[in-house]
Amino acid sequence: MTREGDRYTIRPGRASDATELVRLHAAVQLQAGTGGQPHPGIAAWVDGLLAGHPSVAPDDFLVAEELATGRPVASLVGLRQDWSLAGVRLPVVQVELVGTAPEHRGNRLTDRLLAALHERCAADGVPVQVIEGIPHFYRRFGYHYALANGGASTVPAAALPAAERGGPDDAPGVMTVDPATVANTEALAGIDRQLADGEALVCPRDAALWRHEIGGRAPADLVRRVVAVLRHGGDVRGYLVHGARLSDAGELTVFAAACQRPADWQQAAATMHAYLGRVGQQYAATADRPFVAVRPVLDANHPLVRLGPPGVPRRPGAWYARTGDPVDLLARLRPLLHRRWQAADLRWPEPALVIDMYGRAARLEFTDGELTAVTAARPAVSPSTDPGTHAAIPPDALLQLALGHRTLPEVLDAWPDCLLRDHLTEHFLTVAFPQVPVRVWPRN
Ligand SMILES: CC(C)(COP(=O)(O)OP(=O)(O)OC[C@H]1O[C@@H](n2cnc3c(N)ncnc32)[C@H](O)[C@@H]1OP(=O)(O)O)[C@@H](O)C(=O)NCCC(=O)NCCS
Repeated sequence: MTREGDRYTIRPGRASDATELVRLHAAVQLQAGTGGQPHPGIAAWVDGLLAGHPSVAPDDFLVAEELATGRPVASLVGLRQDWSLAGVRLPVVQVELVGTAPEHRGNRLTDRLLAALHERCAADGVPVQVIEGIPHFYRRFGYHYALANGGASTVPAAALPAAERGGPDDAPGVMTVDPATVANTEALAGIDRQLADGEALVCPRDAALWRHEIGGRAPADLVRRVVAVLRHGGDVRGYLVHGARLSDAGELTVFAAACQRPADWQQAAATMHAYLGRVGQQYAATADRPFVAVRPVLDANHPLVRLGPPGVPRRPGAWYARTGDPVDLLARLRPLLHRRWQAADLRWPEPALVIDMYGRAARLEFTDGELTAVTAARPAVSPSTDPGTHAAIPPDALLQLALGHRTLPEVLDAWPDCLLRDHLTEHFLTVAFPQVPVRVWPRN
């Protein structure tokens, strides 16, 4: 994509860009921590994404090339992944590594790279993009804080149990936690398949991705995490994913924790916390800082958190999310909406329920009261007065509802331009969009 008189072209990345992209990102990302030196953790991460990551291809990067030199001077990467929203597959692109060389800033290159990414997502049928990044910045590109991130209390090291309860590791009935090996990848993928059918928003990994997390990353890779497995005898019953080092504040981050059987959580939470205490002490012994706390980047209601030691409350953060096509997003959720209305014994009394999103509209079609299709409809000129419109919902509010981030009462409270025709519509949409726990950890 080149404009007349332009200094740049926007194009997909190539394998031959690897050296330049590693150099560019190592030089621009997280510079506050390196004092202006190239960041080795970023270099190793970008190198791994371009060679060896099982779900990333070079053309997942988008590059702004300076025409005069042929060199990449800005880029980002869109990591393709399938999430599962309460059992429904949801294609997502996670944006990472947004960066422009300092001498090329001021040319709106992020704007152009994201526009190219959004076009690609529209063409590929990827309804949602997410990014975790500079506060407020990505709002200008149509992103909204629509996915909870964290919110669990931080557990001081002194509050952790001293040892796993229940006796020696090999005693019958006792659960243990120890580092995962590549031999565990099929079992871990099986647990993720099971979680994908639950009620949360999750990002399931297959065996190849688990293999990459366990043994595929360079030691210096900034986003390398440690995977541990929860065992009961010879069975893998769950997993725990935590940082590979202590943070500058002496905290050990927990990214994910899962149990195949909910009934295991009581014992698993104690065992996992004792293990985290041991790991924190080991890390402190080789680092030049004390182990201060475990910091779960999990929701406050996560079983590991609820059943673990009390800690110091933290305000939840949020990921940015964007959709270019809220009608497509609703259409993908059709089986879920159908299931939720059926479970609540609700039948819509008309042939259609029309949701106008101020510029786009979705027509939800019903047969004998049951949802059968979601199609695009012509938006009303004035949705607030149009007799054929049941609900007028701004697209950013619709995104919050669809992802289970905000409930309808919360949206009605905060968006005065969210308008509903009657109480029946309100009831239907309240049941359609309950809050959904976010149990996603970055697939980057
Ligand atoms: C953020 C970054 C990618 C923007 O690059 P760019 O789009 O090519 O740069 P531009 O100069 O055209 O910036 C566009 C706007 O973003 C703003 N901006 C740049 N960095 C910002 C920051 N850290 N916080 C808030 N706004 C920022 C600029 O001030 C400019 O605003 P304006 O339109 O009001 O003038 C670039 O500054 C960079 O590489 N920073 C270091 C790496 C980084 O922080 N990446 C983001 C990781 S999430």
